[in-house]
Amino acid sequence: MRVDLRSDTVTTPSIAMREVMAHAPVGDDVYGEDVTVNGLEERVATLFGKEAAVFTPSGSLANQLGIRMLVAPGEELLAETNSHVVRAELGAAAVFSGITTRTWPARRGLLNANDALEIARPNSGPYLVSTTAIAVENSHNFGGGTVQPLDQIAALYKGAQEMGIALHLDGARIWNAHVATGIALAEYGQYFETISVCLSKGLGAPVGSLMLSTKEKVARARVWRKRYGAGMRQVGILAAAGHYALDTNIDLLQHDHRRAKFLADRCHAAAPTTIDPTTVDTNIVGLDLSQLSITAAEFAQLVKAEGVLISALGPKYARLVTHLDINDAAMEFAAEVLSQALQRTLVA
Ligand SMILES: Cc1ncc(COP(=O)(O)O)c(C=O)c1O
Repeated sequence: MRVDLRSDTVTTPSIAMREVMAHAPVGDDVYGEDVTVNGLEERVATLFGKEAAVFTPSGSLANQLGIRMLVAPGEELLAETNSHVVRAELGAAAVFSGITTRTWPARRGLLNANDALEIARPNSGPYLVSTTAIAVENSHNFGGGTVQPLDQIAALYKGAQEMGIALHLDGARIWNAHVATGIALAEYGQYFETISVCLSKGLGAPVGSLMLSTKEKVARARVWRKRYGAGMRQVGILAAAGHYALDTNIDLLQHDHRRAKFLADRCHAAAPTTIDPTTVDTNIVGLDLSQLSITAAEFAQLVKAEGVLISALGPKYARLVTHLDINDAAMEFAAEVLSQALQRTLVA
């Protein structure tokens, strides 16, 4: 058996999803004539209580368009130290938009509004950089799938509003936060001026993200999307996968969460210091391997040889991610391989 827990982006589209894609009505989306794309943009904007949305090929582009709409060149975005916009978008905000970034650290990426508000410096005059936006990642990928507490989001919004600072949501996995908490997407949506969401993570579409905001910001973002070379043509084929994902796959995330918890429980039983299962909020399990005699990369090699693929994200940190293509049998197989490998390599 081969079980791929590296990421929830490794899923392949199901036969049913491919069927829907094959029959999607399409048109030239650069001319605004693809009805399947237009329908998806409207649908997702409405879900979050936003006026409009623009379809993008990647979550990184959706983030970058959103941030660009809030922060001018030479101004500043604040984000948590391990957030995707800071660590995994290859400096895009600086390279493409001239945006500077400052960060605050948070254990597991968990949002505490004061951490961000304390370092915010709006309207800093002619000598210092002015903060104009703060990014929040929910759920937090490198934090281990952490769901951000709604009261902290609300407190951040209130404090930021008072300072004239806007909030951007990196909601690549907001669907997971929604399913884990039961909090409506529109409830999350009200706090953020721009939002990115992904259909190609836990929802299992092969491609597709959206940036949501006001009509005015989305119209401007469309121009930038085209300028970046991401104006797409008969892309309703991909938007159809997004529709299918929203119809059928949001409910299934609960199983990814259950399976992630199972894996965490088994890893904890084998090596208690690797993970506290009560911190597993969604579909991601971050393993602290500092008590092992080998590095995370070596541990990943060890379990790979037995058919389980995981991501080594730090010298002693590894990540497991459950997704649509992991069923209970795969979960149990992976749990067995991982717990045996942990027991073998744990320093007594
Ligand atoms: C939290 C988060 N935001 C944004 C992205 C970017 O998505 P993409 O890989 O489609 O650019 C990812 C990708 O894994 C992510 O985990």
